[in-house]
Amino acid sequence: MRKPIVAGNWKMNTSLEEARALAGELRSTLSAYSTVERVLIPPFPWIVPLADILDGSDIVLGAQDCAVEDQGAFTGEVSARMLAPLCRYIIVGHSERRHIIGETDEVVAAKLRAVLRNGARPILCVGELLEERERGEARAVVERQLQSAFADVEAADVLRTVIAYEPVWAIGTGRAATPEDAREMANWIREVLARHVGAEAANEIRVQYGGSVNADNAAGFLSLPEIDGALVGGASLKADQFTQIVERAA
Ligand code: G3H
Repeated sequence: MRKPIVAGNWKMNTSLEEARALAGELRSTLSAYSTVERVLIPPFPWIVPLADILDGSDIVLGAQDCAVEDQGAFTGEVSARMLAPLCRYIIVGHSERRHIIGETDEVVAAKLRAVLRNGARPILCVGELLEERERGEARAVVERQLQSAFADVEAADVLRTVIAYEPVWAIGTGRAATPEDAREMANWIREVLARHVGAEAANEIRVQYGGSVNADNAAGFLSLPEIDGALVGGASLKADQFTQIVERAA
């Protein structure tokens, strides 16, 4: 059985006071849903204060990115080695980093390996642009992203990774994919991964959907047996919305 995982990616939002208040509220509203893995992914500077707020709860922290290297003269970078003691999960390959910052498949693969060698678990984001979907290339894009990320990764480490299918055209646009689109791509992701780890192991890998998930549409995705949770952006900044999304996954 795959345990559902709902993660709130706060992106570059919240003041310290807002972050503290949101985490405090979620600590109490999310406590009832222990059948779901609940992950808060705040901006880097709020990780330490939030670790204190969540201490003693079963809500875990994640980070939005990490460096390729573990330490050294890389001004402004934050390494997986630094994050791993505080964060169970680290996102790699988010579309905003691929398409705004310009991270290549090679950089994403190196970050994935950095997360794994430091003992955290990657949330690997994959997904196609609108023009790629319109050209009928969605499967090929996701296949390329998966193959590149896992090329040098042992099967046991592939199993420690959560895949977030996030079609780029659905992120922050209010235009979510249909549950049928998400189901089809989740099946495709497991098919591609089965070539690497075998069909039985691929069936253990959790696949989330992300892209304009909110309290109203979450049930459509989370009720599908192929979808094991959600990576939530905008709606994760509102305690009531995020709590309702977690409830839909329980
Ligand atoms: O990481 C989260 C995704 O980018 C989805 O963001 O829910 O604001 O569309 P969104």
